[in-house]
Amino acid sequence: LHVAKFELSAPDIRRLPADSGIEVAFAGRSNAGKSSALNTLTNQKALARTSKTPGRTQLINVFDIRENRRLIDLPGYGFAKVPLEMKKKWQKALAEYLEKRMSLKGLVLLMDIRHPLKDLDVDLINWANDSQLPTLVLLTKADKLKPGKRNSEVLQVRKKCLTMHDNIKVQAFSSLTKVGLEQATAAISDWFIN
Ligand code: GTP
Ligand code: MG
Repeated sequence: LHVAKFELSAPDIRRLPADSGIEVAFAGRSNAGKSSALNTLTNQKALARTSKTPGRTQLINVFDIRENRRLIDLPGYGFAKVPLEMKKKWQKALAEYLEKRMSLKGLVLLMDIRHPLKDLDVDLINWANDSQLPTLVLLTKADKLKPGKRNSEVLQVRKKCLTMHDNIKVQAFSSLTKVGLEQATAAISDWFIN
């Protein structure tokens, strides 16, 4: 995925670019590897800020692919050590974005392959199904598991996801080894056609 440039960071949806064209959003728990995946998929070292400290991405970050085509790095959810007030604020921004953004045409949901399908992930998958939003699940940090275990995790998570969502793909991904990069790029590129 070729990205032209970082466009802006917004604290809430009112500050986003005009709601036209096609947008693909990256969501997932804090520390799941959203920003790393974004960098890997766009072949850029530091387009999105990554961090060992969960909760790094606190704003909605917008990247332009080209005119009217955008990638969105959403704040992570579910990080326990964040003050409740802040947590509420982020979750509100996230919910608002997901509910109101007309140009949102695809959701990339990232989950650490070692800790998949936490409550909020499941909520998000059910919500995406209700909203008929095509979803690509990337099981991140796949380099942390041996191939056998990795494949069995993918199959298990895929099976569960398909009970919740009609239009969902599930695959392994690693920003370190680039496992799954080609398939993920193809799936996301498909959403931008039209
Ligand atoms: P927030 O912005 O805090 O929500 O986190 P994030 O989901 O954007 O995660 P980020 O990409 O910042 O990565 C979190 C940590 O996981 C960093 O220390 C990364 O180096 C590490 N990480 C991300 N992807 C991979 C991967 O594919 N393999 C391994 N081994 N580590 C990874
Ligand atoms: Mg991030």
